[in-house]
Amino acid sequence: MSDTSTTPLRWGIASTGGIAEQMTRALRTLPHAEVVAVGSRSQESADRFASEFDIERAHPSHTDLCADPNVDIIYVASPHSEHHDMTMAALNAGKHVVCEKAFALNAAEAGEMIESARRNNRFLMEAMWTWFIPAVVDIRRRVNAGEIGEIVSVDADFCLDISDPDGRHRQADLAGGALLDLGIYPLTFPCFVLGEYPDEVKAIGRLTAGGVDATVAGVAAFPSGALSTFQTSLDAVSGLGARIVGTTGRIDVDPPFWFTSSFTVHSLGADPQHVEMPSEGLAHEAAHAMERIRDGHIHSNVVTWDATLRTMQLLDEVRQQVGVVYPSER
Ligand SMILES: NC(=O)c1ccc[n+]([C@@H]2O[C@H](COP(=O)([O-])OP(=O)(O)OC[C@H]3O[C@@H](n4cnc5c(N)ncnc54)[C@H](OP(=O)(O)O)[C@@H]3O)[C@@H](O)[C@H]2O)c1
Repeated sequence: MSDTSTTPLRWGIASTGGIAEQMTRALRTLPHAEVVAVGSRSQESADRFASEFDIERAHPSHTDLCADPNVDIIYVASPHSEHHDMTMAALNAGKHVVCEKAFALNAAEAGEMIESARRNNRFLMEAMWTWFIPAVVDIRRRVNAGEIGEIVSVDADFCLDISDPDGRHRQADLAGGALLDLGIYPLTFPCFVLGEYPDEVKAIGRLTAGGVDATVAGVAAFPSGALSTFQTSLDAVSGLGARIVGTTGRIDVDPPFWFTSSFTVHSLGADPQHVEMPSEGLAHEAAHAMERIRDGHIHSNVVTWDATLRTMQLLDEVRQQVGVVYPSER
């Protein structure tokens, strides 16, 4: 493994879909990252991806990618149903792993993945990129500093019109549904901003004929007393913004709230303050993962294992309330 501060970390990209492309582009912008390999379920797709991004080695299976001795860290960018097995294989092969959200199918799988990282002494992090976006980090700082007083409520929505019946979003066996893909953002945005997880959540959902959640709306209650509302859907496009309301003001987060570059602070008795903070997208989380690895850690201190487990427990609870059970859970 290359682990000195002068040697670039060598990334392998597991899967060749949309977010894999975005992450590969983001890694290209980082000075100490090299994308050296890609793995796909087919040689053809691996070759296409490798050629597009000028990647040295194209593997026709995840097993081959994991066996590549010149890969230090694997980015798992497959559908949710595949995260557990692909992450376990990579960790058992001695690779560090950054795994896309939703981290797993359920909390039980997430617990096994974390245990495997511990056993193999390898870095593992859920790719919750929102928690590294500069504007989001600054919003959390302002909330913690009491700029808008005690927090009363946080509201966020993430609804897109994703109608393709054959796409992964609507496939139960790929752990589709709005919640794991989109709803995870409005559900966990208040957790990050408030620095706590809810002790109660109530949700109602409408399911597709195929048994995944098309729309979910809910409310969560936090130990501090704050309430949050969240809404997610595959059937319509929402405003994609977020609002944080406190006893002495509010913060309006401009869309898309989960990687926003601007927000407005409204404090009682003061002129609104509009703040612009551009971001480098996925590069922030990747840079953080590499820094943690270089410093000898096997977990993130931002997206902690505890946070990931609690996120999965929340998702499990909401799925249970709306009646979504994936085929592999039956
Ligand atoms: N952070 C973000 O902003 C963001 C945005 C979008 C999605 N995501 C997350 O990233 C993950 C992937 O999303 P995506 O939008 O990139 O998905 P996608 O475009 O559908 O690509 C998923 C890829 O996974 C691979 N795969 C492995 N097993 C598969 C299976 N059984 N069925 C279908 N594909 C399979 C395929 O690549 P091969 O054919 O090469 O094997 C496929 O191209 C999800 O966890 C999603 O929630 C994150």
